[in-house]
Amino acid sequence: TASTNTVAKGIGKLYFGSATDNPELPDTAYETILNNTGFFGQITPGNSMKWDATEPEEGVFTFSGGDQIANLARANGQLIRGHNCVWYNQLPSWVANGVFTAAQLTTIIQNHCGTLVSHYAGEISSSYAWDVINEPFNDDGTWRSDVFFNTLGESFVPIALQAARAADPKAKLYINDYNIEFAGPKATAMMSLIQTLKSTNVPVDGVGLQCHFIVGEVPTDLETILQEFVALDVEVAITELDIRMTLPETDALLAQQKTDYQNVIAACKAVAGCVGITIWDYTDKYSWIPGTFPGQGAACPWDANFIRKPAYDGIIAGL
Ligand code: XIL
Repeated sequence: TASTNTVAKGIGKLYFGSATDNPELPDTAYETILNNTGFFGQITPGNSMKWDATEPEEGVFTFSGGDQIANLARANGQLIRGHNCVWYNQLPSWVANGVFTAAQLTTIIQNHCGTLVSHYAGEISSSYAWDVINEPFNDDGTWRSDVFFNTLGESFVPIALQAARAADPKAKLYINDYNIEFAGPKATAMMSLIQTLKSTNVPVDGVGLQCHFIVGEVPTDLETILQEFVALDVEVAITELDIRMTLPETDALLAQQKTDYQNVIAACKAVAGCVGITIWDYTDKYSWIPGTFPGQGAACPWDANFIRKPAYDGIIAGL
């Protein structure tokens, strides 16, 4: 059978990749597939480069988890997407609950993004990209009410992007979000943000579309949306693809899931500026879905026993 990364590169994409996470790595059956660059040319650390993991106390940086993933990628010859610099979630309480002046929080963001991105600069510039800003918008297109927006307004975005650019001039700088994969207020808000950043010369290179989808509900205008972002002079990537179902899985659901994966991949294929696809872990054994969406799961292309599902063939058919 054809292998995902090999086929993706054959059609001009940079990579087909997977999220992974440190607790999974002692699992040798898991790692054997993850390390296979026929399948995966890129990995994203699922948790270990987030703020709570990397700066749990102000000015105290811990890179051991992130380094383990970066070292694995280097050993395998895989790209990395750094994930992430500024996000309202998995934020240590000293930031989330802090009361800061605008000047203080500016320095905190600059120090966090600058230190994190420069730590991986050699690594991640080879390594490709950073999700500098994650999930800034509410579903209605308004800014999320978090410590960043509430203290700094939307200026937290250029502050973080400029700090990341200074720390690693070669890395592609992304803004990443969900529910921007179809026309609506959130996609519109992201497009206006990109236009504003571009018109004010703030460095931004890409938009990440997470693509946490539901079986039978993949947006039909995904390709159009990808094209609309690319028209704003950014690249796009599918950064966290999974397609969940209400359990138990059935043959009919698995067949629909195959079609759904194929359609997502085909949308990226059709858009030259869609540089790559990352699935949010490759096996149901380690998917985040059951823990976050009770009663749902079976969202990945490999099952919990590392057997490829119909979804895998859907990916290959879409490439
Ligand atoms: C998820 C991880 O996969 C989980 O292990 C963790 O408990 C919560 O975060 N959007 C993102 C990712 O940008 O960082 C999230 O990852 C999934 C949703």
